[in-house]
Amino acid sequence: MLRPSPSLEGRVAVVTGGGGGLGEGICGSLAAAGAAVAVIEADLAKAEARAGQLVEAGGRGIAFEGDVASKASVDAMTSAVVSEFGGIDILVNNAAIYPSRPWTEIDEDEWDRVLATNLKGYFLCARAAYPSMVERGSGRIINLASVTFLVGFANLLDYVSSKGGVVGFTRALAREVGSEGVTVNAVSPGAFPTDAEKIHPDPEGYNQWVLDQQSLKRRGTSMDVGNLVAFLASDNASFITGQLIGIDGGWAMH
Ligand SMILES: NC(=O)c1ccc[n+]([C@@H]2O[C@H](COP(=O)([O-])OP(=O)(O)OC[C@H]3O[C@@H](n4cnc5c(N)ncnc54)[C@H](O)[C@@H]3O)[C@@H](O)[C@H]2O)c1
Repeated sequence: MLRPSPSLEGRVAVVTGGGGGLGEGICGSLAAAGAAVAVIEADLAKAEARAGQLVEAGGRGIAFEGDVASKASVDAMTSAVVSEFGGIDILVNNAAIYPSRPWTEIDEDEWDRVLATNLKGYFLCARAAYPSMVERGSGRIINLASVTFLVGFANLLDYVSSKGGVVGFTRALAREVGSEGVTVNAVSPGAFPTDAEKIHPDPEGYNQWVLDQQSLKRRGTSMDVGNLVAFLASDNASFITGQLIGIDGGWAMH
């Protein structure tokens, strides 16, 4: 018998970096399933544009400006979301930065900035949202990892290291919060044709190289990622925790 798609009606989702490339599919899928979406962004204009899209499509979305790498900022954003929506059910840790250069050219400042955004930011946001999840008796924390950790990638040493940290963070946190009904999972995207890719010196060659890595011979879309995130956020995924799930067209198999 066919089951209806899982509804997120009445749930509140926080998506960090939701104004970016994959944020379109992630926020879009969560809102389409009925969740109210708080779009957290360092770039307020991007957050407002994304929230506007959600509302235009008939969903609920509100923009919040803030820096996931700052505890004060995360705590203020979390309080604002809770007072606006009454609580938090779903946290998607998605905001990240990815400067690219040979590892001998990475300085201490860049290393600290990447780890502060891509790993400490995930911790700060989870730590801030967790009390609300405990109060509600359930919660979903979904962390964006990356295929670059699974296969190793040149010229992204700090980024790839942060993504390895995200996998450890996901597994260790899942052990600690399961008794409160909170699940923690990581999704590992392959390479998606977002704005980040446009700066590649040879976009066509890169496009072909990505297709060569994948088993499926089409490029992924942000909705592919969004559909997985919405599933993990739903009641149908209530027995899945501590997992790293690839969404990469069959690139890394682990
Ligand atoms: N796009 C891909 O192909 C791909 C592949 C693998 C993994 N990922 C992961 O998916 C996630 C989203 O990637 P994307 O392609 O949408 O990137 P993106 O750069 O388009 O979006 C990231 C967003 O995060 C925001 N942001 C950056 N620093 C922030 C901070 N300190 N506080 C708040 N917001 C901040 C940026 O303003 C941006 O809008 C990232 O975690 C990335 O590592 C992406």
